[in-house]
Amino acid sequence: MQRLMHRLTQDDLPAVFEIENRSFQDPWPCEAFSEEVLQDAMVLDVDEVLSGYILYHVILDEAVILNFAIDPDKRRQGHGEYLLGQSLSELSESGCTRFFLDVRRSNAQAIKLYEKHGFMTLGIRKGYYHDPPEDAIVMGRIYTNPRKSS
Ligand SMILES: CC(C)(COP(=O)(O)OP(=O)(O)OC[C@H]1O[C@@H](n2cnc3c(N)ncnc32)[C@H](O)[C@@H]1OP(=O)(O)O)[C@@H](O)C(=O)NCCC(=O)NCCS
Repeated sequence: MQRLMHRLTQDDLPAVFEIENRSFQDPWPCEAFSEEVLQDAMVLDVDEVLSGYILYHVILDEAVILNFAIDPDKRRQGHGEYLLGQSLSELSESGCTRFFLDVRRSNAQAIKLYEKHGFMTLGIRKGYYHDPPEDAIVMGRIYTNPRKSS
């Protein structure tokens, strides 16, 4: 099996939309994948097939994970862990020291994965999500040494 992470291009969007729609009950509409949002987006190819994506918003030394999913047919094979780890390393190398994200309180698998990569719960945003309504857990990971990654 060959995994390759690379920057998202316009050609990747149809496959990304498909995974998005199959992954979330409240998927982002296509228009939400704006040029600005896609600036710091990475995708994972597994045996040359797009199998996941992760979108960040990077401001100076801070990065926020906006969206992240693996093809439902390819989960539990380590791809999410690979894509998260590789993208965090790449952003750390380019100077990011602080990472943040929001996650549904019930999303135990994602929370477990983030914890494995050093994220800690920082707080709760009451009623942050709609459809279905749910609180968000705010998680963060802060490096003191920007060159050190997971
Ligand atoms: C969260 C997600 C990206 C994980 O991708 P994945 O490729 O299945 O994850 P991996 O196989 O790399 O698993 C890595 C770790 O995540 C956790 N994990 C993943 N799926 C899990 C599950 N179903 N149950 C429990 N833990 C799980 C475990 O800690 C796992 O490590 P382990 O195998 O040593 O126990 C994937 O489930 C997904 O796309 N979910 C829907 C979209 C989503 O919720 N995105 C996050 C939004 S904040």
